[in-house]
Amino acid sequence: MERLLVLVTLITTLANVQGGVLVDNAPACPEPLGVQAYAHPESCNHFFLCTNGTLTVETCENGLLFDGKGAVHNHCNYNWAVECGARKADLTPISTPGCEYLFGIYPYSQDCSTHYVKCAHGEPIPQSCDPGLVYDHKIHGCNWPDLLSETCNPEAVVGFKCPTKVPSNSVAAKFWPYPRFPVPGDCGRLITCVNGHPRLITCGEGKVFDPSSLTCEEPEFVPHCANHL
Ligand SMILES: *[C@@H]1O[C@H](CO)[C@@H](O)[C@H](O)[C@H]1NC(C)=O
Repeated sequence: MERLLVLVTLITTLANVQGGVLVDNAPACPEPLGVQAYAHPESCNHFFLCTNGTLTVETCENGLLFDGKGAVHNHCNYNWAVECGARKADLTPISTPGCEYLFGIYPYSQDCSTHYVKCAHGEPIPQSCDPGLVYDHKIHGCNWPDLLSETCNPEAVVGFKCPTKVPSNSVAAKFWPYPRFPVPGDCGRLITCVNGHPRLITCGEGKVFDPSSLTCEEPEFVPHCANHL
C-alpha cells in the first residue's frame, strides 16, 4: 500500500494526464507481472494501469468512472455506482440517439416496463428483465413490480390476483402471510403474495415446484415435472 502511494504521488508530478498514454520517466509498477489498475488521486475519470510492469494513464469511457471494482468496460464502472470521494468527476454527457452517455443503463419507457436499455459505445441494446420483474430506475436494474406500486400494476405483470384469504386448512395457509400458488403449465416457478401483491419466483438450482407441498423440490420427487429441465 505504501509503495503504491509513492507510485501515485510520483506519477501525479510526472504525468501529463492523457488517456491510455505511456508515462515518460515513470517509476516502476509495484508488480512486475499481470494487470493492475490504480485510482488516480485527483481524477475519478482517470486511472493508472500496469500491464506486466508497463505503466499507462487510462481514461474511462463517457458515463463511466473508476472505483477499482468496475468491470463494465476497461476497469471502469457506471458513474452512479462509483464513490469518487475527493477525486473530481467530469460527467459531461456525450449523447447518441437512445443513450444519454455512451455507456449507461436507461429505462425503455417511463411506465412499468419489463425491458430496459443498456448503452455501450453509444449503441442502445434492448434488455429484458427476468420473468415477473420490471425495470426500477432507482436501482438501475430489475425489481419486483409490487415494490414499484406507484407506476406498476403487479397483478398485470405477473398475471395473478392474490386472494384476500385462503382456506385455513389448505397448504397455502401454512405460508400465510405469504401464501404460495402454482403457475399453471410452469414447473419451474411459483407465485407468492407479499402484502396482497403477487411475485413470480423461479425455483432455480435445477428444482421444480411441487404443487402438493407448495415447495421447490428435486425433480425426482415431482413426477409430472421430472422432464422439465
Ligand atoms: C504478461 O507476460 C506474460 C509472460 O511473459 C504473458 O504470458 C502475458 O500475456 C502478458 N500479459 C499481458 C497482459 O501482456
